[in-house]
Amino acid sequence: MEHRGVTVWLTGLSGAGKTTITKALEQELRSRNCEKLEVLDGDIVRQNLTKGLGFSKEDRDTNIRRIGFVANLLTRNGVMVLVSAISPYREVREEVGRQIGNFVEVFVNAPLNVCEERDVKGLYKRARAGEIEKFTGIDDPYEPPTNPTVECRTDLESLDESVGKVLGKLEELGYIS
Ligand code: PPS
Ligand code: MG
Repeated sequence: MEHRGVTVWLTGLSGAGKTTITKALEQELRSRNCEKLEVLDGDIVRQNLTKGLGFSKEDRDTNIRRIGFVANLLTRNGVMVLVSAISPYREVREEVGRQIGNFVEVFVNAPLNVCEERDVKGLYKRARAGEIEKFTGIDDPYEPPTNPTVECRTDLESLDESVGKVLGKLEELGYIS
């Protein structure tokens, strides 16, 4: 499969399905012989590139700018970059998108109550109990994209459907063929 450099940026609440969609997308793209592919997942990036940062607005913005910086270097070298990070602030997402240029914003959307019911990592429970501060959606903001390139409603559609939507859009925009 031929492809151009592009950053596919998945934003959404914790538990919305960013990592799940990213992994399925990665698998599908690799099976189509897309070799120049990298994944930057917030949870992993925070163990190395942005280690030591917390969840204040300032630290989240720094986290997103650093991820964006690396994604930009890769993208301009022809890599397809899959970023999954909550990236709750619209302004910084848009700033990074302008910087990268070849940028596809995917809004991984499920209502807060659904994410909270899933509570895959038990973090919502801990946030409600006051054990975690500044938890996105509970006592910290999430600003949804105003005009995402793709929206995946993970509470209403299957994983295959979500992945298909993203791939379809990448094709439509000429990033893959
Ligand atoms: S951000 O806002 O984009 O900088 O966040 P990100 O780098 O994606 O990291 C989110 C993951 O960190 C865990 N976690 C929290 N998330 C939100 N708020 C608070 N306070 C918090 N504390 C820890 C959580 O595992 C997030 O992963 P996902 O995959 O989103 O569930
Ligand atoms: Mg995740």
